Amino acid sequence: MIFITGGAGFIGSNFVLDWLAQHDEPVINFDKLTYAGNINNLASLTHDPRHIFVQGDIGDTAQVAALLEQYKPRAIVHFAAESHVDRSILGPAAFVQTNVNGTFGLLEATRAFWSNLPESEKAAFRFLHVSTDEVYGTLGPNDAPFTETTQYAPNSPYSASKAASDHLVRSYHHTYGLPTLTTNCSNNYGPYHFPEKLIPLMITNARAGKPLPIYGDGQQVRDWLYVSDHCAAIRRTLEAGVPGEVYNIGGWNEKANLEVVHALCDILDKLDPKSSGSYRDQIAYVTDRPGHDRRYAIDARKIERELGWKPAETFETGIRKTVQWYLDHQDWVSNVQSGDYLKWVEQNYSQRQTPAGVQQ
Ligand code: NAD
Ligand code: DAU
Repeated sequence: MIFITGGAGFIGSNFVLDWLAQHDEPVINFDKLTYAGNINNLASLTHDPRHIFVQGDIGDTAQVAALLEQYKPRAIVHFAAESHVDRSILGPAAFVQTNVNGTFGLLEATRAFWSNLPESEKAAFRFLHVSTDEVYGTLGPNDAPFTETTQYAPNSPYSASKAASDHLVRSYHHTYGLPTLTTNCSNNYGPYHFPEKLIPLMITNARAGKPLPIYGDGQQVRDWLYVSDHCAAIRRTLEAGVPGEVYNIGGWNEKANLEVVHALCDILDKLDPKSSGSYRDQIAYVTDRPGHDRRYAIDARKIERELGWKPAETFETGIRKTVQWYLDHQDWVSNVQSGDYLKWVEQNYSQRQTPAGVQQ
């Protein structure tokens, strides 16, 4: 069986659902259920004995160690993290706690378990660390995309904490020989994406008749990947990746934020038209994110060349499916927009003004 951390979050729950749709190999899903974790994402697995859910913190080395001894997984896929850049700006401590100290605790429990395995199982064991392109910093408009050897230059508390976790993972391979794999992926989107992030926030605000808050000039570029493509890349890396190696994962889909929001509005105008006007009328420019990275882009040639993975979805197919998913899952949206969510919206957006010189 495999042991997953953070499997109730956005990417983790997509991974668990995709894994069990394709394999009979059971999954231990270890998740703290923070505001971002949602066990309802896995409601279809409630009576499925292949899915074993355990609530807990990756920093609790004793609990993780006991579970590893009990279930003896052949691999760990580590998704659990604090993942939202804006939250890391307003409250960085949780990011250091989970992403750095938590990953350290998980690595220590894994090292103790792995060290005592028989030699053949030791060699076959894998620790796959799911990381981000944000560790590489920001690109200028004409810079080449990030490769696996681009120098680390994290700019937010979130990306700095992920960079630290990447370094810890690297050191456990180099020092102890733990068979690690690290993946650095670009921006994901798709079903079960928590509506604090750009794409689900814009879809849900649009439908609720609320402003669509564009930070700064909206010309920041992200490289978008449909979440099931990321899950397929992780499965392939787990299967064939070389221990100690790093694989960049991306969608070859660079888009400015404003272009993404326009695309969402245009799809909504067709699928769920307003009584008058366009959803574009709700766009509102607001104060920029401090330290906002201007451009991310991933060079995903290594994983294509060495492991034969490339994305199946284009931005056009993926974004349409995503909008349709949110239209079809209004109950899921209502459930996640709880009291805590409303507090976050107030905290993050109430102080943002329209920047000087920008016309709404
Ligand atoms: P998410 O915030 O949606 O989910 C995180 C999950 O981790 C939640 O279920 C949460 O309950 C759990 N968790 C948080 N702290 C924990 C702890 N201390 N112990 C156990 N569980 C804990 O995040 P996501 O967007 O699904 O991202 C998953 C991983 O992928 C993260 O490591 C993130 O850095 C990385 N990543 C995300 C993206 C993206 O676009 N979302 C892109 C590249 C990489
Ligand atoms: O690049 C991978 C990263 O992508 C992951 O590691 C992170 O976990 C994930 O959250 C994501 O980070 P971003 O900061 O790029 O994603 P976010 O959806 O928060 O923002 C995307 C862009 O949209 C960014 O340039 C900021 C902008 N934005 C975001 C919000 C929430 C807005 O203009 N308005 C908004 O209200």
